[in-house]
Amino acid sequence: MNLKGQNILVTGASRGIGKSIAIHLLEANARVGVHYNSSRTEADNVKLKYSKAETFQANLSKSDEVELLFKRAIEQLGKLDTIVLNAGIFLPQSTEGTTEDWLDNWRLTMAINLESAGLLTKLGIEYFKKQGGGRFIYIGSRAAFRGETEEYLAYAASKGGLTSLSRTVARSFGRYNIKSFVVAPGFTRTEMAEDAIRKYGETNILSELALNEITTPEDIAPVVVLMCSGQMDHATGSTIDINAGSYIR
Ligand SMILES: NC(=O)c1ccc[n+]([C@@H]2O[C@H](COP(=O)([O-])OP(=O)(O)OC[C@H]3O[C@@H](n4cnc5c(N)ncnc54)[C@H](OP(=O)(O)O)[C@@H]3O)[C@@H](O)[C@H]2O)c1
Repeated sequence: MNLKGQNILVTGASRGIGKSIAIHLLEANARVGVHYNSSRTEADNVKLKYSKAETFQANLSKSDEVELLFKRAIEQLGKLDTIVLNAGIFLPQSTEGTTEDWLDNWRLTMAINLESAGLLTKLGIEYFKKQGGGRFIYIGSRAAFRGETEEYLAYAASKGGLTSLSRTVARSFGRYNIKSFVVAPGFTRTEMAEDAIRKYGETNILSELALNEITTPEDIAPVVVLMCSGQMDHATGSTIDINAGSYIR
């Protein structure tokens, strides 16, 4: 897969799934905007290794920083062909806590996982329309389809929203040559998943899978490279499940 000439912004590319996606895209010769929030060293290390990487800092819980990220990415990369909306948080919150705590968790989750993606989509559509096309790739979750455990109500709802967002973009803007996809991972071995591994134990998590090993970020990134290549364009609006057979629908 050769993505030479393609410029791609990946949010949350400093760690986990986003980092692996950024590296796979760079290995395929794309120019990549490596977005991060707090993990500057990790993002800088990607830039040190790959000359086609540019780093961008932004806290996606703040809409002014989201707008600035988009503007700087266009300015520094020159143009954008694809936006990979990967950044996300997975914070538990019991319904038995205070309403205030519950609402704080809900709002923060929605701001980072959904609102920032919505705003980048709005800005991206305006830009892609003028450019004559582009792609959105949303990193959703199995949680949107199967549902999550009780402490992740906000997380699952945010990923459901992301899925509907992608489908609506695909239906509404295909005529402008804008394509939109969701990649829906199941449990994937990253820092985000470490708490769950500790809480439920690796054996329990493995028992939910059809395969014998937990999914890694490297199992997800190649599908995103294929989506960026244009070879999947006629699958616009679709969701690719990557969950080791733990939820087949
Ligand atoms: N791991 C799983 O089991 C799993 C399963 C299904 C779906 N997913 C989805 O896959 C995506 C990546 O997950 P992951 O497991 O790779 O997570 P991760 O290892 O925790 O990495 C999260 C990334 O999001 C960024 N981020 C977090 N808060 C941010 C904020 N306020 N502003 C900007 N960036 C922020 C982080 O940036 P900094 O470190 O620079 O702050 C980091 O790069 C998420 O959307 C997640 O919901 C993961």
